[in-house]
Amino acid sequence: MSAPDLSVNLGGVRMRNPVMVASGTFGYGPEYADLVDLNRLGAFVVKGISLDPWRGNPPPRTVETASGLINAIGLQNPGADVFLRDHLPFLRQFDVPVIVNIWGRTVEEYAAVAERLSAAAGLAALELNVSCPNIKEGRTTFGTNLPMFRRVLAAVRLKTRLPLIPKLAPDLAQIKAFAQAAEEEGADALSLINSIPALAIDIETRRPVLANRTGGLSGPAIKPIALKLVWEAAQAVKIPVVGIGGIATAADALEFIIAGASAVAVGTANFTEPTTALTVADGIRDYLVRHNLGTVKELVGTILC
Ligand code: SIN
Repeated sequence: MSAPDLSVNLGGVRMRNPVMVASGTFGYGPEYADLVDLNRLGAFVVKGISLDPWRGNPPPRTVETASGLINAIGLQNPGADVFLRDHLPFLRQFDVPVIVNIWGRTVEEYAAVAERLSAAAGLAALELNVSCPNIKEGRTTFGTNLPMFRRVLAAVRLKTRLPLIPKLAPDLAQIKAFAQAAEEEGADALSLINSIPALAIDIETRRPVLANRTGGLSGPAIKPIALKLVWEAAQAVKIPVVGIGGIATAADALEFIIAGASAVAVGTANFTEPTTALTVADGIRDYLVRHNLGTVKELVGTILC
């Protein structure tokens, strides 16, 4: 049997394999380029970019937990123009789709950054970050408020022809409603989940460890929650879904694919093992061979229950 076909068309983004690196965990490329062959990634998702530069939250901004990481970076970034001038040219040297995670504090800012980035050559898609738990205009304003979610999506849709991938919040009660609303407003794919709001306390000072007080929990601790939400969202829509949440092994990724994800993103695991996305893709290939499957697409959503 010939080698299995791992390629995926994610709402117009052609990926050589279904494993991408999640926004905020791989910088803008140079940070990892000496450690990882970027040409072997399914796609590269850039840290959240806004129209103007943004300082993010004061430190401390991260704390490890028993089985994950809480971060409150606050979407620090150099702004769209600096990204296009100083960072995109580096990434464009590689044969990998570049997806830019975008955010704003208002509907107008979202639309403006989408328009600015769409005018540049070399981007494969925009991931719409409506789910950051660490800025007040993030998750609660757009990611868990259905009318606002629709408004921001509709406004961005008008400004870009690039594939649009809203990144959903882990809204346990309303995930189907958000997934369907995204599809109705013209999204080409969905990604989920973003990190889960969380708290760590220093018992000596009795203060929150993070300067922002709360942050977003990611890593292995959230995988079963993410898996359930991906399963539910994938059943609710026809557009492809990217599964994110605690993926560190091929087995983790395969669970997401069997639950209905067409692609997956490796996030927190990149900090401990930068080559995780590559070993996950290799492991998916081995699984397809062992199970006599010619393509990864055949496995998507094959959960039996
Ligand atoms: C952050 O920068 O605070 C995290 C980004 C996100 O959760 O979307």
